Amino acid sequence: MRRLVIAGNWKMNADKKFVTDLITAIKARASGFKNIDTVLIPPSLYVAQAVQLTKDSEIKIGVQNIHQEAKGAFTGEISTEMAKDSEAKYVLIGHSERRQYFGETDQLVALKVSSVIKNGLTPIVCIGEKLEERESGNLEKVIKKQLTDGLYHLTPEQFSNVIIAYEPVWAIGTGKTATPQQAQEVHAFIRKELGIKFGSYAEKTIIQYGGSVNDSNAVELLSQSDIDGALIGGASLKADAFLVILETANKL
Ligand code: PGA
Repeated sequence: MRRLVIAGNWKMNADKKFVTDLITAIKARASGFKNIDTVLIPPSLYVAQAVQLTKDSEIKIGVQNIHQEAKGAFTGEISTEMAKDSEAKYVLIGHSERRQYFGETDQLVALKVSSVIKNGLTPIVCIGEKLEERESGNLEKVIKKQLTDGLYHLTPEQFSNVIIAYEPVWAIGTGKTATPQQAQEVHAFIRKELGIKFGSYAEKTIIQYGGSVNDSNAVELLSQSDIDGALIGGASLKADAFLVILETANKL
């Protein structure tokens, strides 16, 4: 049985007060949710504050992106080493917004994954197809390429630390979710492919779903056999909605 991992990706939203208010509200209830892992992923400037606020709880903090090098002349970037030093435990990699707006490729994803694994943090690697790729019948080809180029350089032992987030690009921030059946189909395909490459490790891999997950659709999505959690944007910014999702996941 895989343990569900629910992560809130705050994207470029928050200020100091927001961080304190949201974490205080979530923390008050999250200690009751023993069956799931809860991860909050604020903008990196607020990671230290979030770590401090969650110290006495089971909530873990992540960062939204890292540079693949450990240090150096890369103005504006942060490294995995810095995320680790700030006590973040998770790193989002290859989010579709990074791919779309910052030109991130699967090759770059592969380098970033290696940096995160080397430092003992948990990468959450985002993959997913665009609408035109799905409609032209290329969904499986696109997913397979993202897996191959982004992850297949890892040994099975290294891979065992990876979380995958399947996020159909057309479902992110649009209010359009994949139906639970559509999502399950892709998750099962991902697990099958991972099994071919990494053998029995694929059965243990956490595959989150992401894309307009909210407090009304979470239960059906999370009930699917190959959906092991959620990566949540918009709904993770509202304590009430996020808590409903955590509670739902905890009961499954
Ligand atoms: P959304 O974002 O829940 O707002 O669709 C999900 C994500 O981008 O990770």
